[in-house]
Amino acid sequence: LRIAVLASGRGSNLQAILDAIAAGVLDATVVGVFSDKARAPVLERARSAGLDAHALVPRDFPNRLEFDAAMFDAVEKSAPDLVVCAGYMRLISEPQVTRMAGRMVNIHPSLLPAFKGLHTHQQALDAGVAEHGASVHFVTPELDGGPVIAHARVPVVSSDDADALAARVLEREHPLLVAVLRWFAAGRIALDAGRVTVDGMAV
Ligand code: GRF
Repeated sequence: LRIAVLASGRGSNLQAILDAIAAGVLDATVVGVFSDKARAPVLERARSAGLDAHALVPRDFPNRLEFDAAMFDAVEKSAPDLVVCAGYMRLISEPQVTRMAGRMVNIHPSLLPAFKGLHTHQQALDAGVAEHGASVHFVTPELDGGPVIAHARVPVVSSDDADALAARVLEREHPLLVAVLRWFAAGRIALDAGRVTVDGMAV
């Protein structure tokens, strides 16, 4: 499975993918790491792993549509089977989402459809939920609105602040993402008429 990763920050999800590949539990290749932030630590992780690392800077482009088109032209040059957004902090404009339909997933730190957008852990605490977690979903034009492939669940404890909850969720994101990528590598997952199918069956 040829994977392109889009990220804007720390890169712990990229690292989880690389570790799984190195451990032989994920039959995949990371064909490129792409960021909208030239100094994002994720690019350093990519470079030190010997991967192609690309930064495209939004202010170098006249508008969002042109930036997104250039970004996905670069992504497509790496000929990925699947694009993984892991902490890519941009809403991707519709033409590129359509272009990548069924070939792009995102990991989001909430149990979607709950708590879309930013500051999901604080949202969960403010809502007083007992359970929180992460989701891997197909990317559609609606922010964090695409069909969910899988959830990882964690308890919320009374002493939690946003940082403690974020840490508990993050450590479950990594195995969740690897598990979903293993299913893609095995050809078991698809997006069919807006529904996730596993082994050809809508779930
Ligand atoms: C993760 O929590 C992910 O769910 C969210 O952004 C964070 C990315 O973390 N979208 P990292 O850069 O992979 O460490």
